[in-house]
Amino acid sequence: MMDKLIINGGRSLEGEVSISGAKNAALPILAATLLASEQVIIHNVPHLQDITTMMELIGGMGVSFIVDDKMTLEVNPKEVFGHIAPYDLVKTMRASILVLGPLLTKFGKAEVSLPGGCAIGSRPVDLHISGMRALGANINVENGYIYASAPNGLKGAEYTFDIISVTGTENLIMAAVLAQGVTQLNNAAKEPEVVDLANFLNTLGAKIKGAGTDTIIIEGVTDLKSGEYTVMPDRIEAGTFLIAASITSGHIKLKNTYAQSMTAILEKLEASGAGLNISHNDIEINCKQKRPKAVNIITSPYPAFPTDMQAQFMSLNAVAEGTSEIVETIFENRFMHVQELQRMGANIKLHGNTAVCTGVEKLTGAPVMATDLRASAGLVLAGLVADGETIVDRIYHIDRGYERIEEKLAQLGASIRRAN
Ligand code: UD1
Repeated sequence: MMDKLIINGGRSLEGEVSISGAKNAALPILAATLLASEQVIIHNVPHLQDITTMMELIGGMGVSFIVDDKMTLEVNPKEVFGHIAPYDLVKTMRASILVLGPLLTKFGKAEVSLPGGCAIGSRPVDLHISGMRALGANINVENGYIYASAPNGLKGAEYTFDIISVTGTENLIMAAVLAQGVTQLNNAAKEPEVVDLANFLNTLGAKIKGAGTDTIIIEGVTDLKSGEYTVMPDRIEAGTFLIAASITSGHIKLKNTYAQSMTAILEKLEASGAGLNISHNDIEINCKQKRPKAVNIITSPYPAFPTDMQAQFMSLNAVAEGTSEIVETIFENRFMHVQELQRMGANIKLHGNTAVCTGVEKLTGAPVMATDLRASAGLVLAGLVADGETIVDRIYHIDRGYERIEEKLAQLGASIRRAN
């Protein structure tokens, strides 16, 4: 049986909650440990299914781990022997493609299964492949696998992304770190998780400049040493909890956040009428007795509004005062939560990649189905505010990216439990 979340809506959230390490930073950082020649210590690794999948993937290549109780990982990549990322693991997580760059640059060869179809769109990996070719790799795609080789190592080169790609940028950074000579990446992704990966690699002795801008310059080095690093806080988990407070007219404080990485999200919350107070690593949100106001959103690469927060804001707009437009520009099929929200009484109309939503006074609880990671988060949020019981089915999607979401929400006073 698949796990479900059973939520009884209508309680205002109150209290404090601690935000976990960022999934989308920890995944490339774990893949990057393949590049190191010595032991690496990583702190603040979130306890998530996607992280377990990445550990299985690189563990199958010979990386060994010691896990301590506070999600610090001691990673030992000294005995890596494998260079194959098999279909069984890659099909469950697209981010598995992140091992391509490290394997190719370190061992001169890699076999990585193509990720295949994905619920939120076709999401090709053509840029990863053309980027590796620019660094001198030979690549054949056949039988559902990417077969890559560079017998004499990769060579630094200039590469310009046609479309901004987060994991594409990360893969190319990792490949270039051990390439001969200098690589320049143009139109690179500026996401904070890209910066976190570059900072991690520089801690081990890599020479990467410009991460966080659209031009990244990597001077190849011969090897990476040991080091210790703390993964940045998860800005999407933090944003999701802020909306949980907003739509339940609650008042909560998030600990261990990185507000500078959340500007676009925080601006939209302020526009919706939330009272925000940011100090050190904490974000306090006060929405007592307030119904949120609807906000218009266009998703775009960082520093603009992130597609990974789109579904959650759809739930906010569903119960907000006023009519809003949400335009999704990154993924073509990322509105699957809309149908489920309609079943809970939301008034949303879809026109291509635009969702027009008129807020209603009340949503009503219903059985709903999670279809992807962030869509499921949107449904949980809707359940928190809906009248009566909402049952969110297929929550393995949520467990991929949210650590103990039901425990953290229950700690804030929500009525939510896991069942199967
Ligand atoms: C990453 C995030 C994901 C987030 C997304 C956009 C990780 C592990 N995942 O995914 O949570 O939703 O960024 O912020 O960090 N594209 C191509 N060819 C390619 C690669 C991408 O056409 O080779 C297209 C995609 O279809 C999409 C756009 O580029 O339309 C952006 O995708 P990309 O930034 O690559 O997303 P991911 O890195 O897979």
